[in-house]
Amino acid sequence: MKITLTKEKGPKISKYIYGHFAEHLGRCIYEGIYVGEDSSIPNVNGMRTDVVEALKNIRIPVLRWPGGCFADEYHWKDGIGPKENRKKIVNTNWGGVTENNHFGTHEYFELLRQLGCEAYINGNVGSGTVQEMQEWIEYMTMDGESPMANLRRENGHDDPWKVKFFGVGNESWGCGGNMRPDYYADVYRRYQTFVRQYGKDKIYKIACGPNIDDYNWMDRVMSIAAPFMDGISLHHYALTGAWEDKGPALGFEESQWWSLLKSAKKMDELITKHSTIMDKYDPEKRVGLIVDEWGSWLAVEPGTNPGFLYQQNTIRDAMVAALTLNIFHKHADRVHMANIAQTVNVLQAMILTEGDKMVKTPSYHVFDLYKVHQDADVVASYGDESDTLSYTISKKDGMISISLCNYSLTDTQTLDVAGEFGDTIAEARYITADKMDEHNDFEHPENITIKDFDGAKLVDGQLSITIPPMSVATIRIPE
Ligand code: AHR
Repeated sequence: MKITLTKEKGPKISKYIYGHFAEHLGRCIYEGIYVGEDSSIPNVNGMRTDVVEALKNIRIPVLRWPGGCFADEYHWKDGIGPKENRKKIVNTNWGGVTENNHFGTHEYFELLRQLGCEAYINGNVGSGTVQEMQEWIEYMTMDGESPMANLRRENGHDDPWKVKFFGVGNESWGCGGNMRPDYYADVYRRYQTFVRQYGKDKIYKIACGPNIDDYNWMDRVMSIAAPFMDGISLHHYALTGAWEDKGPALGFEESQWWSLLKSAKKMDELITKHSTIMDKYDPEKRVGLIVDEWGSWLAVEPGTNPGFLYQQNTIRDAMVAALTLNIFHKHADRVHMANIAQTVNVLQAMILTEGDKMVKTPSYHVFDLYKVHQDADVVASYGDESDTLSYTISKKDGMISISLCNYSLTDTQTLDVAGEFGDTIAEARYITADKMDEHNDFEHPENITIKDFDGAKLVDGQLSITIPPMSVATIRIPE
């Protein structure tokens, strides 16, 4: 493949496109992130040190919490105050297990403090009241004298926190209340009214958007509520086939390599079509499309709780991650944030844990390779249905970063980039695999890990990259 680098710059790739999502689901929050202060696993105020350090390394910019479907059954007052007094509830969505509420609002903000990232809280519309939502905002963000600010102080936190993003309901068309779009749009208008601005920071309000290709939902909600929102969500998971018949994460057929990637690539069409509908009501592209759930959804690992959504993660998932990030870059003018599901031990996780052991997945390494694109200007971004090579190029601080993904199972491929490059490659790194379900596990945590890449060459200011099959690489060259 041959391309020519132009001088033109596209929109900025918001760093929030590299966001993550952590729900009270399976072993994501409990065990995966929060082990409690008394755990023998090294922790700071209950947060696993190994996991926090790993997430900081990929510069996690924002973390969505507490769900997902869990959000519409979450009553935040159950999760504050002394832990021994916190209500034990049933996690009806995810395995019917007991939720002891030991990880609540204070613990979430402590986690964000350690990670150095922003808050994205999803409010409860399905089973919560307007008052409950308003009081949560007041509890978190009110500085002066008020009933909720005083309650926060009684619980040991004097200063308000910053809530950058707030979601008004999750999947309100499904687990969040089975609403119809016109009804939800009115409910959204009402609830968001009381997401008040108590502090100096404006809260970015996110409406519940469509599932996959429900274009009618997008049209109705935008037509009724667009002026009241800053963003609207979109959920799309990559599957190997039917929803009811999820393919395995390991030991899959070659056809399932292709079907999963085809499903992931549908993201391009979905964003294009939803964005066209949004243009009708928001031609200035003020409202962001927030892809706050994406990633591969595969069968759970044999022998694990089906309600915990624990799946292994292979080089195939790394391809899903790279391809999808390239698509988000292509649509950076409309996609303001995205949150891969989910951070630890659930779905397409960055990290897997078992007791005190932790392993970084191939998807983690893609986020590591791609972190250089955060807040950079897009130069080009490409991924086409007919090809098995996808790339993205951005510029920031005098550095051109080129990431590419060869998802052929057999063929080495070359990307020639004509431009005016100097004669130095500042950095070239990649991940690769010999077989299509190569993965990391607790016995072999470094089967797939980032290595130096020697496939990039500069000759007379022209760049030529030769990349083996099943590989993702990033090359950085000074402008
Ligand atoms: O990420 C798992 C679940 O998928 C979320 O709770 C829900 O929003 C979606 O259906």
